Amino acid sequence: MPKPYTPNDKWARKAKEEGFRARSIYKLQELDEKFQLLHPGMIVLDLGAAPGSWLQYVSGKIGPKGLAIGLDLQKIEKIAPNVVTLEQDIMDLDAVEKIVHEVMGARAQGRKGATSSESSDSSRSGPEGPSGPRTAASSESFLIDLLLSDAAPSTSGIHDVDQWRSIELNQSALAIGKRLLKPGGRCVLKVFQGADFDPFIKDVRSEWKDVHIIKAKTSRDRSTEVYVIAQKA
Ligand SMILES: C[S@@+](CC[C@H](N)C(=O)[O-])C[C@H]1O[C@@H](n2cnc3c(N)ncnc32)[C@H](O)[C@@H]1O
Repeated sequence: MPKPYTPNDKWARKAKEEGFRARSIYKLQELDEKFQLLHPGMIVLDLGAAPGSWLQYVSGKIGPKGLAIGLDLQKIEKIAPNVVTLEQDIMDLDAVEKIVHEVMGARAQGRKGATSSESSDSSRSGPEGPSGPRTAASSESFLIDLLLSDAAPSTSGIHDVDQWRSIELNQSALAIGKRLLKPGGRCVLKVFQGADFDPFIKDVRSEWKDVHIIKAKTSRDRSTEVYVIAQKA
């Protein structure tokens, strides 16, 4: 029989004590320790990033020369100078691609101009990007090192519907990875197991290399979530 839901469990308490915004941090930490995902200087895109515990962890691992871009439907409060956060639906591939190119373009321009504004947090509701008005940026050189997605749909209570929505979010994340990841770059996706899981994994294996499926020790016992790690060919 599954254990009852405990809102204030050990991991939630630990996250609070350590200043992290969510217990999810320990899932990413576990995956990072197992797969050495994060390194100084990396460019990381985090999809479904609110409230931001993964970004807090990523920020420390990539250091001041790295850049993390966090997207979510919800606003993410400021994290650190090497983290840019924006309100964005990750199902809109063109918009996500444009944001990443613009954030990276603005950062590259800032570096060229030897200014102090390497990156800054921002939430976006109008035409302005994180460093002021959006600038046209050539897309070719703006590829990311690592794609993270912990995105989860708001639940309807109908398991199959929720699972399918999670698969849709992951299909979008994979499409974003195909456009934006460097060759050899990895993606980490949260997927809920259910009727659509096996066909989804089959698709991932057909297009990505080195696919791993991991149940995080810190995932709740009653949860069907697993993390899929895959490398771009
Ligand atoms: C489990 S939370 C992520 C927790 C995060 N990794 C952290 O450590 O703080 C899942 C997030 O996915 C987001 N989400 C769901 N659908 C989305 C969509 N279409 N576009 C962007 N974000 C989405 C939700 O708003 C929610 O904040």
